[in-house]
Amino acid sequence: MLPSHLQTQEPEHLSDTTVQQKLSEMAARDAQVDDYDKMWHLNLFGKVEIPVMHLCLGLSSEHILLEGGCGTGRMTRDFAMRCREQVSVDFSWESLRSCAEKLRRGGITNVHLVQADLCHLPFKTERFDRVVSCQVLEHIPSEELRELAVKELARALKRGGNLALSAYQYSLLMQWFGEKEGSHDGGIYFYRFTRDEFSDLMARYLQVDGIIGAMVYHYIARCHKN
Ligand SMILES: C[S@@+](CC[C@H](N)C(=O)[O-])C[C@H]1O[C@@H](n2cnc3c(N)ncnc32)[C@H](O)[C@@H]1O
Repeated sequence: MLPSHLQTQEPEHLSDTTVQQKLSEMAARDAQVDDYDKMWHLNLFGKVEIPVMHLCLGLSSEHILLEGGCGTGRMTRDFAMRCREQVSVDFSWESLRSCAEKLRRGGITNVHLVQADLCHLPFKTERFDRVVSCQVLEHIPSEELRELAVKELARALKRGGNLALSAYQYSLLMQWFGEKEGSHDGGIYFYRFTRDEFSDLMARYLQVDGIIGAMVYHYIARCHKN
């Protein structure tokens, strides 16, 4: 149960045009929980990504952190060990169950797991000291919804707080290897951002302090809210 100081407004309805893509991803994420945890390259990438995320966030033991799109909890425990309280959101129920099990095994008790859509977050405005979202934005299936997700994450962040967000990059190198937009197995939509697209999107709602190119395949945005 989410504590009352973090609750809530009623989520709005999903738009008809993207509801099928979202449902398709929710079903695929539910079905692929075990496969996700076995992706060796993600675990390897995490050795760089997680410390960079920490540098961008500047988490401390007094902070309340919002993690948008926690999935099966690849990073959840690591964040939770550095903050007072954490809310980790995902729309895949099975991913949340897997994450809950990892937290239970790790003895982590300061995380609230919430099933919600990043584009319609059920939280009051400016309640979180820090906000993080890793490898989620690229899976939100339209420009309008990606903007809504960033707007929602920024809304939840307190003034003076930091936000770190990572997403697929469409660098010169990636243009040789991959499509700009497409679908992964099971119907998981993806979109690769150019540096300018990524920076412009963040800058609509936040002060962008830097965009870091991480291991060719991601950008990490380091932002704060004035
Ligand atoms: C690639 S996984 C990343 C998970 C985790 N952050 C990590 O880095 O391992 C993307 C996650 O975002 C979730 N997701 C995608 N779109 C979402 C949305 N609109 N609202 C909530 N969760 C979403 C998926 O269910 C999935 O668990």
